[in-house]
Amino acid sequence: MKVAIVGASGAVGQEFLRVLDERNFPLDELVLFGSPRSAGTKYTFRGKDIEVKLLQHNDDFRGVDIAFTSAGAGTSKEYAEDITRFGAVMIDNSSAFRMDDDVPLVVPEVNAADAKQRPRGIIANPNCTTIQMVVALKAIEGLSHIRRVHVSTYQAASGAGAAAMQELYEQYRQVLAGEPVKVEKFAYQLAFNLIPQIDVFTDNGYTKEEMKMFNETRKIMHSDVRVSATCVRVPALRSHSESIWVETERPISVEEAREAFARGEGLVLMDNPAEKEYPMPLFLAGKDPVYVGRIRRDLANDNGLTFWIVGDQIKKGAALNAVQIAEYLVREGDI
Ligand SMILES: NC(=O)c1ccc[n+]([C@@H]2O[C@H](COP(=O)([O-])OP(=O)(O)OC[C@H]3O[C@@H](n4cnc5c(N)ncnc54)[C@H](OP(=O)(O)O)[C@@H]3O)[C@@H](O)[C@H]2O)c1
Repeated sequence: MKVAIVGASGAVGQEFLRVLDERNFPLDELVLFGSPRSAGTKYTFRGKDIEVKLLQHNDDFRGVDIAFTSAGAGTSKEYAEDITRFGAVMIDNSSAFRMDDDVPLVVPEVNAADAKQRPRGIIANPNCTTIQMVVALKAIEGLSHIRRVHVSTYQAASGAGAAAMQELYEQYRQVLAGEPVKVEKFAYQLAFNLIPQIDVFTDNGYTKEEMKMFNETRKIMHSDVRVSATCVRVPALRSHSESIWVETERPISVEEAREAFARGEGLVLMDNPAEKEYPMPLFLAGKDPVYVGRIRRDLANDNGLTFWIVGDQIKKGAALNAVQIAEYLVREGDI
């Protein structure tokens, strides 16, 4: 098994190296790709130094079985043909192909089998906020069909990449040192602030990130559910949090929901208000599952339920989800 990572130097690329090792992914050879910025840099994987190659329009993907790509939508679009030409399965973390009819959009806990139908050899990894939300929604959908979702997200700085995480550190240091604050990766200073905008605005007043949650959830869950989202950048470093209200066809009791979350695949129930136990991003960075807590009946809707989730968006929201897709294909003998 020959595996490639495109965008190895990035926040998600680095997580791929950790996740592949941690999960003992059955690979014989790993090749890394990047732009001229990181080409030549060496990263250690299973005790061996691997040099990042420059991504080019050439035959470098001959013999590659799986390519994990996390180098932005533009790069994925530009190089998809080079990557898949010799039969590699491209599991793409960008938004480039997610809504294309001939590209499956997969969260293994929800719709693993969709990964088998990939006419272009491309499988898309959904948006990070959507991945962690649908893992939780799946548990409720098993009890009663979800008609509507309202969600507010609290998204960590690292969702915007490795440099954005560094910028947040720097901004806190600059504020405390009384220095001018440098703003490059976000629209405004994020340290000591919240920014109610992630990605650009669309014509209906929602941002692209918010519309991804609407569209991608329907595609992954094969559902007519309507998702209304407000996505907010918060000065946490890693792990996204979401406050979710669902409306189901029949009312779901808190007890039923707790049981469903407790046995839900990829979920951990962390809901003990008496002991102040609920999920928080600071303590859950680097963990695999999506954590669920603060489960309550919705006081404004008889068929409503509300809860809070936290998941590491670089892990389950990106690298881990992609590796789980690859593991599924290996198990199914489909790669
Ligand atoms: N961060 C998250 O939480 C998250 C979650 C889900 C999905 N994603 C998606 O994953 C992708 C990467 O995100 P990230 O957070 O890892 O960003 P990042 O930290 O900024 O890293 C970007 C990576 O892309 C590479 N790259 C950029 N242009 C390239 C080119 N022309 N050719 C080859 N490599 C190129 C960079 O390599 P150089 O260093 O060589 O330039 C770097 O390795 C994005 O599409 C993002 O939307 C991110």
